[in-house]
Amino acid sequence: MFIKEIELLNFRNYNSEKISFEKTINIISGENAQGKTNLLESIYILSLGKSFRSNRDAEMIRFGSHFCSVKAIAIYEKEGKDQKIELVYKPGEKKIRLNGIPAEKTSDLLDHVYTVIFSPEDLKIIKDEPEKRRRFLDRELCQLKPAYYRNLGRYKKLLAQRNILLKKEPVNHDVLTVWNQALAETGSHIILERIRFLKQLNKLSGNIHHAISDGKEKLSLNYETCFDKKDLPETVEELQNLLFNRMQAEQEQDIQRGNTGSGPHRDDIRIEINETDARRYASQGQQRTAALAMKLAEIELIRKEKEEEPILLLDDVLSELDEKRQHDLLAKLEGVQLFLTTADLNPLLIAKFHEYRLYQVKDGRIKTI
Ligand SMILES: Nc1ncnc2c1ncn2[C@@H]1O[C@H](COP(=O)(O)OP(=O)(O)OP(=O)(O)O)[C@@H](O)[C@H]1O
Ligand SMILES: [Mg+2]
Repeated sequence: MFIKEIELLNFRNYNSEKISFEKTINIISGENAQGKTNLLESIYILSLGKSFRSNRDAEMIRFGSHFCSVKAIAIYEKEGKDQKIELVYKPGEKKIRLNGIPAEKTSDLLDHVYTVIFSPEDLKIIKDEPEKRRRFLDRELCQLKPAYYRNLGRYKKLLAQRNILLKKEPVNHDVLTVWNQALAETGSHIILERIRFLKQLNKLSGNIHHAISDGKEKLSLNYETCFDKKDLPETVEELQNLLFNRMQAEQEQDIQRGNTGSGPHRDDIRIEINETDARRYASQGQQRTAALAMKLAEIELIRKEKEEEPILLLDDVLSELDEKRQHDLLAKLEGVQLFLTTADLNPLLIAKFHEYRLYQVKDGRIKTI
């Protein structure tokens, strides 16, 4: 799939811009703070309805405006004809139109446009705090499965409510039990989906990593919960019971602390390189290779599961990779529409591509060059 055209209205530092794109490679150049990342963000929100930068949608509205909108024309391989996607944000309100028809829920947007974003921030995923790795899992799963998106939203709401109940005096244990039940039910679905996704990603990224490291290293990704791996059941019902019992057992501790100690909101990805914990021991180069392998695996997984090519957003990341890794990345992109931003448009960069279109962004205006 690819984005043919995008129209921005009051989006970040864009006033009113309409621009068409190349099906293959789009190189977005411009000095710092001109709007390059903002443009990638506008493409990204077509896939998830929210930004990769912030959870506050209102930040995307241009200062001094009351709303912002992003209209795009996308073409999917399967359909072969123009599809119109429109998002309008007002403070506290989000409207989506698909081919002119208003969508009932945000999750109706999912499963249309698939994006993979890769920025210098993502290069740190191996050593960053667990929250970043959970966000990585959630982003991918939300794109692939609207039901996961709805479950995750429900889980987050229930968790926030339980945390309020924990701090309320006197504590009502009966009410907490009801919340434990609901959290265990939603949480067990989330955990099993994440495990399933990670199994697939592990296989793909392991192969890619093996090739990038010239067969010297073995990458493995495993889901890490509050339970011992050997105790982890495979059915939702069993996991639900296990999680419920854990929450009941830890209730007093949770009350003391004022938050919930166990559940998918505390889980992590265990990343190993040659059977050693990469989160602790990986070198800079090993971290970069592993992060790159994970991103390339994401692209392959979307291809496999959806039979569509995702859109790759490379925000200032190419210059962070050495020649070999740049080559490994670009070699895997056939068929993918690429948006690449750079503040340093040099001939060496351009020489890496055969077919491309160049854009320059200046103070919220885009033009082809
Ligand atoms: N809601 C908003 N309204 C108006 N301007 C905004 C809004 N949000 C962000 N901006 C401005 O947009 C400008 C461009 O941001 P952007 O992150 O796209 O820059 P960039 O071209 O990617 O720069 P860099 O090369 O430094 O990454 C910033 O100066 C920022 O202040
Ligand atoms: Mg930027």
